Order: sequence, then structure tokens, then C-alpha cells
Amino acid sequence: MNTDKVDGIIKKYGKEQSAIMSILQDIQSEYNYLPREALEQVSKKMSIPLSKIYGIATFYKVFSLTPRGRHLIKVCLGTACHVRGAPQILEEIERKIGIRAGETTGDLKFTLERVNCLGACALGPLVMINNDYYGQMTSAKVDKILKAYD
Ligand code: FES
Repeated sequence: MNTDKVDGIIKKYGKEQSAIMSILQDIQSEYNYLPREALEQVSKKMSIPLSKIYGIATFYKVFSLTPRGRHLIKVCLGTACHVRGAPQILEEIERKIGIRAGETTGDLKFTLERVNCLGACALGPLVMINNDYYGQMTSAKVDKILKAYD
């Protein structure tokens, strides 16, 4: 982990405790998660107890304390997508990348998540990778779509 990068982020927002959310968000964008060493550095520099920072990091779902992949795959298993075959699509993705929902591949390429609704039920079954939506998904399309991400 690059301590200069974290220092730069703290400098950008200042050491006021109110800046903590912006600082954590920037660290998360930099590393895709919040490394423990980064949080220790923030705690020391900003004189905020580490336990308080962990409290914030665990409260907000946007933050992750474990390494995440470069590409985040969200498979919708909400009712509309479920009835149109989303479970089979999730299974196919799990099989292709060799992890279960909630996990990250060892090469940090993909993190796989199941979600309850992506807000575009008419397009279901729906899969989202980073900011891209894939509607009317089928198991047969999985391989080709995943190959577009490296
Ligand atoms: S249920 Fe899948 S997008 Fe709403």
C-alpha cells in the first residue's frame, strides 16, 4: 500500500473529522476496498480512534474491508428476474469464474454479488458489471460477456 497516496487524500480534504467520509470514499476508489494499513494511517493522522473509523466503514454498505475485484458483477435475484431464470445465470457465472456469490476471485479480477433489484425489472433477468447493464440475460451469454472484462 502506498502511504503517500493516503497522505495525499487526507491533505486534499483536510484533517477535520467531518472529512472522514470523503477520505474513506477516495481510499476505497483507489484500492477497491479499505486496507487496514490505510485506516490506521487515517486514524493516526486525523486523531480519530481506529474503532470509530471501523464503525463508519462497517455501517455503510458502500465500503468494503476485504479486497474486491477490479470488476463488480451484480446478479439480480429479485422476483421479476428470479422467475425469468436469474438463479441459473448466477450458477453459470459462479461456474465460469470459480467463486460463489459474495466472493472475489484470487486474481482480484471479479467480485460477485447477488442483489435484490437493480431497478429495471422489465429488462430482467438483469446482470450489471461495473456500470454496464446486461438485460434479458441468458446462461449462454455469460461467457462472451465476461470475456469483455480483463
Ligand atoms: S427484480 Fe431484477 S431488476 Fe428488479
